[in-house]
Amino acid sequence: MNLSKRIESMQFSPIRKLNQYADEARSKGLKVIGLNIGQPDIETPSVFFESIKNFDSKVLAYTDSKGIPSLLDSFIKYYNNLGFNLNKDEILITNGGSEALLFAMLTICDPGEEIIIPEPFYTNYNSFSDIASVNVVPFKTFAEDGFRLPSKSEIESKISPKTRGILISNPGNPTGVVYTREEIKMLVEIAMENDLYLISDEVYREFVYDDLTAVSALEFTEAEDRIIIIDSISKRYSACGARIGAMISKNKTLMHTALKLSQSRLCSPTIEQVAAAGLINTPKDYFYEVNREYANRRDILFDCLKTLPDIICQKPTGAFYLIAKLPIKDSDHFATWLLREFSIDNKTVMIAPASGFYATEGLGEDEVRLSYCVNQQDLKDAANILIKGLLEYKKIYV
Ligand SMILES: Cc1ncc(COP(=O)(O)O)c(C=O)c1O
Repeated sequence: MNLSKRIESMQFSPIRKLNQYADEARSKGLKVIGLNIGQPDIETPSVFFESIKNFDSKVLAYTDSKGIPSLLDSFIKYYNNLGFNLNKDEILITNGGSEALLFAMLTICDPGEEIIIPEPFYTNYNSFSDIASVNVVPFKTFAEDGFRLPSKSEIESKISPKTRGILISNPGNPTGVVYTREEIKMLVEIAMENDLYLISDEVYREFVYDDLTAVSALEFTEAEDRIIIIDSISKRYSACGARIGAMISKNKTLMHTALKLSQSRLCSPTIEQVAAAGLINTPKDYFYEVNREYANRRDILFDCLKTLPDIICQKPTGAFYLIAKLPIKDSDHFATWLLREFSIDNKTVMIAPASGFYATEGLGEDEVRLSYCVNQQDLKDAANILIKGLLEYKKIYV
């Protein structure tokens, strides 16, 4: 029996595809330190779990497809604190930022239409676009200059009559780049001049270091009809398992039409919505502490990596990832080899080969994406294993 071409052409997640080798390593008694996934180890604010304990409804009912009023209110309050005024009809609660991304693509594109994305990009943009039968048209950004955006004309050269939007992640997964106001302004101008949407995935907004700030596309009110924000509580509150996110736009027609998608899947999880609504009361200190911890982890990982003479990697300034270009030909093989063949003191490391973060065939094969979501000691151990492993690997294969 045949399966659909759509599912056949989809990739397995490069973040998770080596899981079987990690399981094998664990079954041999090794500790596997996971630098492959953006799963924060930071504690979720306790208010979330208190709300779950206090949930006392006798029936676990569906909610409004748009989201429960208290959660919509908490998003409104959160955005108000950032200086943006939103109304309830400008927000749709979704099953994570993931569903918001899919909704955005399905709402603005017909099958065969195109979205322009700087590559490398969050690998699931490939999966969502496959599901929506949308073609990703990448434009290149490079490890050498810290993945800054190229010139306006270079981005515009990717626009065709089928282009419906530009999609960015800011701060960036997998690059750790934080775009400047000028860079976002350039994208807004491109969108306005070419009648495109700008989908700005801002799920890492809080994770910005070195006194930088993440500029939200919402600032550009002159283009508000074209801007779609992807948001999520997964990273902000270390609540990935809650599966609560939001699609946000000032374009009321777009939002009203996207409601059809929300209605088709009925609602987001009820208890998690209730608990997520309370997260707005998280003390400010929480973010300060978390930010400081990630900045320290970033420094630990980067300082270790830069001891390798032939690595190309700029210090990232946001999110909790970096992409490193290594002196190897096949990062899939290297990542598998680390899990299967290399350990120090009964520990090994799991990394994400970077080719799955590109749409262009052949790119990223000498790159890996590393996340720094593990505690500082594990991070030091992981960096040591990675560096020593790379030296050993080069002796055998390079
Ligand atoms: C850039 C980016 N956008 C969206 C998501 C989706 O997150 P979630 O569905 O957990 O909100 C992720 C998850 O890692 C991400 O890295």
